[in-house]
Amino acid sequence: MYVADDKRYDSMQYRRSGRSGIQLPAISLGLWHNFGGVDNFENSRAMLRRAFDLGITHFDLANNYGPPYGSAEETFGQILKKDFLPYRDELIISTKAGWDMWPGPYGDLGSRKYLLASLDQSLKRMGLEYVDIFYHHRPDPDTPMEESMGALDTAVRSGRALYAGISAYNAKQTLEAVKILRDLGTPLLIHQPKYSMFVRDPEQGLLDVLEKEGVGSIVFTPLAQGLLSDRYLKGIPSDSRAARDFYLKKKDIGETTLAKVRALNEIAGQRGQTLAEMAVAWVLRDPRVTSALVGTSKVSQVDDNVAALKNLKFSADELRKIDGVLAGKSA
Ligand SMILES: NC(=O)c1ccc[n+]([C@@H]2O[C@H](COP(=O)([O-])OP(=O)(O)OC[C@H]3O[C@@H](n4cnc5c(N)ncnc54)[C@H](OP(=O)(O)O)[C@@H]3O)[C@@H](O)[C@H]2O)c1
Repeated sequence: MYVADDKRYDSMQYRRSGRSGIQLPAISLGLWHNFGGVDNFENSRAMLRRAFDLGITHFDLANNYGPPYGSAEETFGQILKKDFLPYRDELIISTKAGWDMWPGPYGDLGSRKYLLASLDQSLKRMGLEYVDIFYHHRPDPDTPMEESMGALDTAVRSGRALYAGISAYNAKQTLEAVKILRDLGTPLLIHQPKYSMFVRDPEQGLLDVLEKEGVGSIVFTPLAQGLLSDRYLKGIPSDSRAARDFYLKKKDIGETTLAKVRALNEIAGQRGQTLAEMAVAWVLRDPRVTSALVGTSKVSQVDDNVAALKNLKFSADELRKIDGVLAGKSA
């Protein structure tokens, strides 16, 4: 039987999500990869256990995580039943709908029909009565935003979710969503944008909107799917995401990128960190970021990513050097 570590709250840092009552761990674990029906169940289980033992109280899912679609929620549901039910009230579990999930016009995008049916399916797969956060996974240009946000409001009012979130909305769309949800009486808890040293779009207005409106941010893919680590410095390991050549493509690991990764790796070394640790620390240097949402394929990566918390401070000189590397200048 799994018994969580007594010391699990001793060293993790928690940050408040905007102006809400919810604090999230500075590092959260996402189940996009390595928790599907095709993956090793005991490895998935070991990563979740290790994460919780280190104070990671937030696990992030979506309807279509797998493969196959839905299977990460099923895996999570089985592990929850075996290991985490006594700890349910210590956990923030999220899921999402917005990308293609089932055939036909009601299994994708942003209709009320899709979002609420999908949430019911997710709850069933995970064996949960409610999720803590339900997200609209991406904006739908053809559905009125009032309808998609209305579905999030219904999810919360009906007790299927405690809080509402959005992902991949730009700054303008986010402001609109914030206003609609506020009028409905279900404030937006959190936004989930993509943010890393390699993808800095949220700096162009989104983080400002979130700060002003009192909404948190949990930033996904802070390691650029593993590129911002030492994983690819000596080629493409056979057990890596890039080896699967699907979401992270082999062609994305060209010499220009590798030169930046090598230079960043050196700066990380000078800070006494691995590059993965520095990548996590770098997104968390901004207090507007509530949590860094990482993925892992092994228990050791959970440890490494959490070790980032030992050094979140960057000197102005280090930040300048990093910006220089990202702009293509040598370190
Ligand atoms: N809202 C959205 O639209 C959206 C989109 C994408 C992701 N997400 C969320 O964000 C989560 C994280 O996404 P992600 O998995 O792409 O994030 P990531 O943390 O950037 O990449 C994770 C991958 O990096 C490698 N890695 C992790 N820690 C490492 C370490 N310490 N040293 C070396 N390599 C390491 C592993 O790759 P290997 O497998 O090669 O070992 C791991 O699978 C997802 O699970 C999901 O919850 C949300």
